[in-house]
Amino acid sequence: MLAALDTDRMYGRPWSRSAEDVQAVWDLYSDDRVTRYTGMARLASPDAVGPWLDAVIGRNDAYPDGTGSLAMRLRATDTIVGTGMLKPIPFADGTLSDTIEVGWHLAPAWWGHGLATEMGRALLRHAFDVLGLDSVIAVVRAENAPSLAVTERLGMVREGVVTTWYGGIPLVQHRAVR
Ligand SMILES: CC(C)(COP(=O)(O)OP(=O)(O)OC[C@H]1O[C@@H](n2cnc3c(N)ncnc32)[C@H](O)[C@@H]1OP(=O)(O)O)[C@@H](O)C(=O)NCCC(=O)NCCS
Repeated sequence: MLAALDTDRMYGRPWSRSAEDVQAVWDLYSDDRVTRYTGMARLASPDAVGPWLDAVIGRNDAYPDGTGSLAMRLRATDTIVGTGMLKPIPFADGTLSDTIEVGWHLAPAWWGHGLATEMGRALLRHAFDVLGLDSVIAVVRAENAPSLAVTERLGMVREGVVTTWYGGIPLVQHRAVR
């Protein structure tokens, strides 16, 4: 479990079953602009939020210490703006690997402010300085130009298209090294 993350403009806490988190998950993941390149199905009804949160909270509890999926809040308004992730990436068959990936999802209202880059930078710093990892990957669909741009801003190196992860779909793999 990753208990907390602090950046200049945001702070992150693990997703919970609070009313605020339930609303934020619905707002975020019922939006096709957010889910279209992530491989996850858009939430079709508010009834889907509970099972989604159960799954995320269950996975967070099972992840290695210092890794997980966080609801990221803007300090200025205490609004949830999206999700930041630092977690073991699943192989094509769904079993968890030992490789740690970094990831970012933002509500569209918050695109264009550098927030994904800021959370990515903080997650990588945590991975290297706190967890002592040697490298972290990010995998992005080739069509997802905004996310590819985040990996570039973070200085991650493109390694090529792989089919190793997430159901074997082709993903552009990037790596940050300590
Ligand atoms: C991928 C995603 C997080 C990128 O969001 P984003 O807002 O474009 O990325 P950032 O938060 O890093 O912001 C960068 C933009 O903010 C601008 N910006 C403003 N202030 C900035 C700052 N202080 N620092 C960096 N960039 C800043 C940049 O110029 C850039 O603008 P541009 O898009 O016009 O070039 C967003 O598109 C998203 O959530 N998509 C849906 C989920 C998804 O696909 N996630 C990735 C799965 S691999």
